[in-house]
Amino acid sequence: MTQIEKLKNTFLDTFGPSDQDIHSFFSPSRINIIGEHIDYNGGEVFPCPLEIGTYGLARKNDDQLLRLKSLNLEAQANIKIQDISYQEDHDWMNYVTGMVKYIGEAGYQVGGFDLLVYGNIPNGAGLSSSASLEMLVGMVLSVLYNGGNIDKKEMALLGQKTENDFFGLQTGIMDQFIIALGQKNHATLINTNELSYEHVPFDLADYALVILNTNKRRELKDSKYNERRSECNQALAILKEEKTDINYLCDLGQDDLELLNKIKDPKIKNRALHVIMENVRVKQAVDALNQGDIQKLGQLLVASNDSLRDLYEVTGPHLDSITKHANSFDACLGARMTGAGFGGCGIAIVKKDRIDEFVDHVRVAYKEDTGLDCQFIQSDIGDGVREII
Ligand code: GLA
Repeated sequence: MTQIEKLKNTFLDTFGPSDQDIHSFFSPSRINIIGEHIDYNGGEVFPCPLEIGTYGLARKNDDQLLRLKSLNLEAQANIKIQDISYQEDHDWMNYVTGMVKYIGEAGYQVGGFDLLVYGNIPNGAGLSSSASLEMLVGMVLSVLYNGGNIDKKEMALLGQKTENDFFGLQTGIMDQFIIALGQKNHATLINTNELSYEHVPFDLADYALVILNTNKRRELKDSKYNERRSECNQALAILKEEKTDINYLCDLGQDDLELLNKIKDPKIKNRALHVIMENVRVKQAVDALNQGDIQKLGQLLVASNDSLRDLYEVTGPHLDSITKHANSFDACLGARMTGAGFGGCGIAIVKKDRIDEFVDHVRVAYKEDTGLDCQFIQSDIGDGVREII
């Protein structure tokens, strides 16, 4: 029996029969190859969707009710559409209600549905299980109530609004955007200022991407994410006094680095330096990939990680340990943290025929440092959110 068939049985056991069709959906998780913490600074980022993610089965109901159940998490509820508000005890279902609220407010049709979700993204791994669920709900409403016509870019923006306004997390657009619009076997260069994008074939020849899960849970809620955002705003305010025509830190380039001397607080200066140089590295990484220069790509990953550790300070001991040991392996061209940081996952480019050795090397050394078992994930790059027909 396929995953979907199994879920269909559970769906019917949970919600009972009805005349309405059951639709199946898949929404991926994501990693970011490079371009970290710059999607809220008008920079370019380079993420891709994975083949692990969130499955959802959904069916219209006429009761104006959201009947919600997850196979991963306990909380389940029947929520009246007219009563939607953020509620602590709604737990994961707040991602659903947030999306329903904002899609409705954006002028699309919304209505009741029964939804069963099942995710195979490791919990708290920082691979964007929340954005994955948001885009799943966007697709559900698009297909069930809007003839499949909710624009994917708008869907991504409404997902970001859910994070920002419903959860109070000032996250950027990267996760929702790549999950909505990503393409199989490609990483996507997203210009977060213009919201334009370009799919770039992702071919590492004899090398493979290995995802390194520290198994140190990352909770953005408790993290310093919002603090970093406000530090960037402080830097921007000072730099704008010198150069009035900039709207984002990423409007500055390598030639403007002198300007950073205007920032007296060394911490704020370091944050700005990371942002500007990370944006430069993204362009270099895309060039390297286009030229098949995987060695160079690996070096850029290492430089990105050093900057996130030393200047932006979002790594922490677990990520530092796992990336250090990955980078000390001779057949690893480069490893870095991916996503928000503060725990979660790293990525590494490793020679395909040396992966087993790599895994042993990192596993043992990481356990010695932290006492934790890490997890290695290999996933192809998949498509963005979709209905499974
Ligand atoms: C999280 C946020 C993204 C982005 C990354 C860091 O994943 O949701 O918007 O800021 O952190 O690059």
